[in-house]
Amino acid sequence: MTPHNQAKKDEIAKIVLMPGDPLRAKYIATHYLTDIHCFNTVRNMLGYTGLYQGQTLSIMGSGMGMPSIGIYSYELYTQYDVDTIIRIGSCGALIPSLDLFDVILADSAWSRSTYAQQQSHDANRIQYPTLEINQALKKAANEQNQWLHPCRFHSSDVFYYEAGIDSGALANQCAVVEMESFALFHNAKVTGKKAACLCTVSDSLVTHQETTAQQRETAFDTMAQIALGGSLY
Ligand code: ADE
Repeated sequence: MTPHNQAKKDEIAKIVLMPGDPLRAKYIATHYLTDIHCFNTVRNMLGYTGLYQGQTLSIMGSGMGMPSIGIYSYELYTQYDVDTIIRIGSCGALIPSLDLFDVILADSAWSRSTYAQQQSHDANRIQYPTLEINQALKKAANEQNQWLHPCRFHSSDVFYYEAGIDSGALANQCAVVEMESFALFHNAKVTGKKAACLCTVSDSLVTHQETTAQQRETAFDTMAQIALGGSLY
């Protein structure tokens, strides 16, 4: 048990899928897993373990932003012996060639966040996912006839800007913006564990198009199925 997670050690699988929204964790668990068991309700950050095609898998919300995913993922890696976390979230497009609903795979995350610096004196502004997990996700996407766009993410601390998006994001070749993957990849690195991040484009900072809640739900299913398929490799 931790201050944020009431689960006992053996209640969480080696692989955890992490949407930002805990209700999406509940949705995936109830729609795709069998024999589900809710292991956490602290702060309503719901977590479930169940079976996916016979393999034990957990799904837990991460909350929004690097401090939140930083806490939950660090505890999963260090207190619950979790090996792999796959974030499944949403992102905003920063380049015109990405369309709403495209599914994006992080090949790196650039951030000005002090998360890594404060956590372990790591001054790198770029953190990386685990190649092996990215390959598994690409394989699963191929099998499902889905295309994954691999690109660099900008992990921002800000959703609402008064002064426009950080110019460093484009200068550092980021194609999308979200708020979590930098901290997740850093935690995987310092704990010797594995991480990856898939995001669906929910809005464009170029065209200012946005998706409706209903559309996001459908798009989320496509991404969840790729993550579930990837978890089998
Ligand atoms: N997640 C989805 N859209 C986003 C945006 N525009 N900025 C940050 N995070 C996001």
